[in-house]
Amino acid sequence: MTRISVLLTTTLLATTTIAQSNREPPSTGLHSLFLSAGKLYFGTATETNNFADPTYQNILSNPLEFGQLTPENSQKWGLIQPQPGDFSFNASDQVASLANSYNHLLRCHTLTWHSQLPPFVSSTSWTPDTLRQLITTHITSVISHFGSACYAWDVVNEALNENGTFRNSVFFNVLGEEYIAHSFEVAREVAPPETKLYYNDFNLETAPEKQTAAVELVKSLQSKGVKIDGVGLQAHFTVGQTPSVESLIATLQRFADLGVDVAWTELDVAQEDVETASELAVEQQASDYVVAVRACLEVERCVGVTVWQFTDRYSWVPGTFPGKGGACLWTEDYQRKPAYWAVKRFLEGWVARMNVTRAFVGGNETTVRTVASPRGPLTEVTSGSERLEGSLVKVAFISFGVWLVLNMM
Ligand code: G3I
Repeated sequence: MTRISVLLTTTLLATTTIAQSNREPPSTGLHSLFLSAGKLYFGTATETNNFADPTYQNILSNPLEFGQLTPENSQKWGLIQPQPGDFSFNASDQVASLANSYNHLLRCHTLTWHSQLPPFVSSTSWTPDTLRQLITTHITSVISHFGSACYAWDVVNEALNENGTFRNSVFFNVLGEEYIAHSFEVAREVAPPETKLYYNDFNLETAPEKQTAAVELVKSLQSKGVKIDGVGLQAHFTVGQTPSVESLIATLQRFADLGVDVAWTELDVAQEDVETASELAVEQQASDYVVAVRACLEVERCVGVTVWQFTDRYSWVPGTFPGKGGACLWTEDYQRKPAYWAVKRFLEGWVARMNVTRAFVGGNETTVRTVASPRGPLTEVTSGSERLEGSLVKVAFISFGVWLVLNMM
């Protein structure tokens, strides 16, 4: 009788341990877990037109979920200097001051970019000297205004084509590739020394020639003595077309090997057809997000991840690619998606593995799959911590069994 009750108590204790470990600890979020994993931030793009939305603000201000903000539009040339010499800092100041009040880092975006230029920049017939001077004035004024509020600046944005050639723009057409070095030199001159200066681009993860051209660009700047601190990879992915974790790690590492920081600066994973996205596509999106986040964790010089808005309510994707969407971690009505939970549980596993010995756990594999539940399909992520718990519970049962047999003899 006593032996049976010991057996029951032990079983109950083991079950309780598993149940407790599955309960969502309220004291962690994406950013806090990223910090525990040794990274600098998990952040999001945001903009002033989202600020009046209290539910949005509640999530944005949660220091467990986010530790970094990027102004989605308000620091772009067309908005910040719409007329020659007429600087308009009101909206971007609001983003900066919000970041400051929430104690979030601010990644500033962006200085020299071919897009969202005001007509006076794109349509004037510049000489090399006048355009060089215009870039100098713009960068000097904008960086000086924000001073040390910016942890990092995307100094030059999207200068390359997918085939590795330089993109045609007013800057390239008048100055050639020299405009890139010039932008970095001006930025370095005026920015506080601790500000990180980035080259930022999209499809560096998927277009091999573009990736190689970006590597060559960084090397070329370095060989001229132009200091560049980081490469931002935008990571705008599509469900099911996200590169493998090995490929993403190799990409990040290739830039990191040049001696610069790297970051996912605009991560989102869009459904090709949001209306017809299947359960499988939802599961695939969760897996794609985990792959991207994991690649950053695996590369030491990857400082953090920024999602390009955290809710579908304000995602840029449907406006640019009609039919596409559902790209964010939260739904339009602020429900956390399976992708959110998958990333969170992966991070929990990662942090647990860091805190315990890797020897117990084995490799870093994380599996994501959809399982049936009474409340409908759920995305299940099996991570290292669960394998560790499983091992400990098994050891406890085996030890108890041995003890029982010895006592019955
Ligand atoms: O502010 C005007 C508004 O007054 C007007 O009524 C409305 C009508 O269309 O347009 C509003 O401006 C829009 C602006 O976003 C602010 O909402 C522009 O049309 C629209 O083109 C602009 O889109 C932005 C896009 O960059 C433009 O280049 C997206 O929000 C923004 O998410 C996107 O972000 C870029 C990154 O900066 C660089 N990497 C790619 C990424 C996605 O395209």
